[in-house]
Amino acid sequence: MSLKRNLEAAGMNVLRSMDPEKSHGLALKALEMGMGNAPGDITSSRLKTSLAGLKLPNPIGLAAGFDKNATALEALSKSGFGFVEVGAATPRPQPGNPKPRLFRLSEDKAAINRFGFNNDGMEAIGARLANRPTNAVIGLNLGANKDSENRAEDFTRVLAHCGENLEFATVNVSSPNTEKLRDLQGKAALSALLAGVMKTRNGLDRKIPIFLKIAPDLTTEELAEIAEVAAESGLDAIIATNTTLSREGLQSTHKDQAGGLSGAPLFEKSTRVLAQLSKLTDGSIPLIGVGGVSSAEQAYAKICAGASAVQLYTALVFGGFSLAETIIRDLDNLLQKDGFINVADAVGSKREDWL
Ligand code: FNR
Repeated sequence: MSLKRNLEAAGMNVLRSMDPEKSHGLALKALEMGMGNAPGDITSSRLKTSLAGLKLPNPIGLAAGFDKNATALEALSKSGFGFVEVGAATPRPQPGNPKPRLFRLSEDKAAINRFGFNNDGMEAIGARLANRPTNAVIGLNLGANKDSENRAEDFTRVLAHCGENLEFATVNVSSPNTEKLRDLQGKAALSALLAGVMKTRNGLDRKIPIFLKIAPDLTTEELAEIAEVAAESGLDAIIATNTTLSREGLQSTHKDQAGGLSGAPLFEKSTRVLAQLSKLTDGSIPLIGVGGVSSAEQAYAKICAGASAVQLYTALVFGGFSLAETIIRDLDNLLQKDGFINVADAVGSKREDWL
């Protein structure tokens, strides 16, 4: 192990002994100070890929919620991730739910959070994005204020304010921590919401792709409706999935905390939803697989289940930031071993295994 990796392992031990939210804040500070793993672009002819028109050096991205306020863009642009999603950002700043609101479930390699879109608001986040590094693919997770009179409009306001400095934006109607937000996943509400978002996007100088992020707790019928709305609205990709309300099979003390569960226990559920969505959309729209990925094998499994790209977050809490580099390099080897010429070649190749 290199000195840097040894130091990271020691740092991780300290962070894991602390309150989870404080520890996350410190990890972010360390990144901002340039103390994170910084391999730069990790790419190869096999890893290079295209996602909704975006050219990615590799298909492994950082999921939303890690850098909610876009304070670590410089470090994240060098972290090896093929794309980075920051936010969620809401129009007005808001404090989120009372603490404690983040729980580490170490025995389950999982986390439960009920942050409730705590963020600095679109003005502050937009100002940081205006000074962003330009050598990375950076997107923003769009959210709605808890006390908003018109939540659908909140998504368009954040997009209109920040869109010029983004490569993509994600409509997040799947966070379980803002009451009734997930009701916006229903057909009529989602159609109306996406119509507004697409109109705003079409008014931007650069027509960036718009992604929709869905919950893993949807029925097959609800997924079919989402696939229909996605096609009708001209959406550019779907991210499957956000955190789950399920608590199946957990061991840890904190297993009954309210909030969204992420990490290892989400892997299978989110991959099944991904495969179902892949079947329903049949290649008409790219999918991004998220949920419980902590190894190259799992990232590869999501790709073979139908994902054109993959995101992760919770595994970094347990494996450190250098995990991204390990996953990307090992994924290249897995693709080569199975004779795939590139990522796109492998997408959906084992979808049936998950249905
Ligand atoms: C999240 N996630 C999330 N998703 C989103 O769309 N907007 C957000 O603001 C957040 N915030 C957030 C905070 C914390 C603490 C966690 C752990 C997660 C969900 C995240 O992007 C991802 O979809 C899930 O965590 C599943 O992936 P992992 O973590 O199992 O790799």
